[in-house]
Amino acid sequence: MASSANNDRPNHRTARAFCLTSAFWFAAAASFGMIGAGYLIAPDFMANIGWLHFGKARPMHVNLMLFGFVTPGLLAAAFYYVPKLLRTALYSEKLGVFTAILWNITLPIGVVGLAQGRSQGREYAEWPWSVDMLIVVLFALVIFNLVMTVRRRLEPIIYVSIWYVCAAVILTGTTYCIGNVIWKPSTGALLGIPDAILLWFYGHNVFGLLLTPLGLGVAYYVLPLATRSPLYSHTLSLIGFWSLIVVYTHIGTHHLLQVPVPTWLKTIAIVDSVAMVIPVMVFLINIWYTVQGKLGTIHADIGAKFVFTGTIYYFFVNIQGSMMALPQVQRVTHFNNWVVGHAHIGVLGFAGVVAIGGIYYVLPKITGRPLYSRFLADLQYWLLLIGVTGFAVVLTIVGLIQGNAWLNGETVYRVLPEIHLYYILRASLGVFIISGAYIGLYNIFRTLYFNPGAATACE
Ligand code: HEM
Ligand code: HEM
Repeated sequence: MASSANNDRPNHRTARAFCLTSAFWFAAAASFGMIGAGYLIAPDFMANIGWLHFGKARPMHVNLMLFGFVTPGLLAAAFYYVPKLLRTALYSEKLGVFTAILWNITLPIGVVGLAQGRSQGREYAEWPWSVDMLIVVLFALVIFNLVMTVRRRLEPIIYVSIWYVCAAVILTGTTYCIGNVIWKPSTGALLGIPDAILLWFYGHNVFGLLLTPLGLGVAYYVLPLATRSPLYSHTLSLIGFWSLIVVYTHIGTHHLLQVPVPTWLKTIAIVDSVAMVIPVMVFLINIWYTVQGKLGTIHADIGAKFVFTGTIYYFFVNIQGSMMALPQVQRVTHFNNWVVGHAHIGVLGFAGVVAIGGIYYVLPKITGRPLYSRFLADLQYWLLLIGVTGFAVVLTIVGLIQGNAWLNGETVYRVLPEIHLYYILRASLGVFIISGAYIGLYNIFRTLYFNPGAATACE
């Protein structure tokens, strides 16, 4: 199965397949998000469509964003840069393409399962058991392909991006099994508080040990190369990596501060959430010093522009996150749209934007042609930037209104009319994001398949 020779001209079929997968599911997931936003404005909206009411559209939206758009997008870049950095062909392009095909079979099965009401009812772990098993297989295939590539490498030095991507898929392969309680197929859950602890150990690790390291891996690859600058400090990159692994793994219980879980667990979660400042700042200092004075160069490269913007959102989401883990702050921000705002800043503003940047950066290299349309990519950039920044502002305001009202003993239904206008604003901003998603799908598809641009040397 392995590629016959390391010096074969690479065809990058795996990276191509993952680029398209990500672009397609971004558009699909955004569509489910719009349906969810519609329900929040008018709960009767599509009321007669039982398989798509809010309780089903929401997990479809969230899980497709996580496992359809962002993860495959970040992996697309990794399937290009891992072999490149190791001066070795990907262990098996066939296996990679097979993985992408299976990925695209798994997600529709998951959507149909959710539509049929076979949700496991645990946030971020809603997929039915059969889909959980398929996802575990997918991660196993990705791990095997990447680890075998590392084993066969010609380059002795393993650059930090490779550390991040390998850690992300290996740790997620493990935490996915634990968090989804895959040894209990009938429920996919334990009972009571232990289940909540396990779920949020996994739930937070989807962001902390999957999206974040994959995103940082892409940033560490794209930004130094695009600006032709050596990495500011390899030592800092290692400190950032190990501190992330040590600190991020312990903070899941900050989702359960209002729940009777043991106090020592809450204390660890709070302390480590604040300590997240270390890996985050170490990464940002390292990468921002690397590109210091090169903003013009970044602006000229659409891939780097997306990735750099993602690092700015990374800064904000982490400062916000560390604050939200403080019990005094969470008394206002928990259980309302503040958290949804944080989620969109993190998953879209940071990880999603970096994923798109990674795709745009590698596409010309894997196709040997320039992007189909730089204009469309720029348009997508601005649509997403306006959309996600608008989401952050609107949802934060709604969250503060809800949080303060509930803190003052106001009942939920009295608050709803007050926040209705903000829900309309959120859906309107969603139009920017969804337009960006479909424009991106068109641009990426045309770049891959019907691109009249002049051929350049394929890397
Ligand atoms: C310093 C790093 C971070 C810290 C300390 C942090 C902290 C938190 C806290 C305390 C919550 C729970 C809020 C509540 O339920 O009241 C939360 C929720 C969330 N965070 Fe973060 N965050 C961090 C970074 C990120 C990043 C980088 C992402 C995305 C890649 C992210 C995505 C999310 C999401 C999606 C939720 C919503 C979970 C839910 O549905 O309840 N976070 N974060
Ligand atoms: C068309 C644009 C979008 C719209 C209209 C939209 C709408 C929504 C809605 C209505 C919810 C449910 C909130 C609730 O339960 O109150 C939600 C949750 C969520 N969305 Fe989106 N969304 C959009 C784009 C995105 C994108 C691009 C991403 C990630 C790349 C994303 C990630 C998430 C996440 C992680 C949650 C869970 C939040 C939480 O539980 O705290 N969304 N979105």
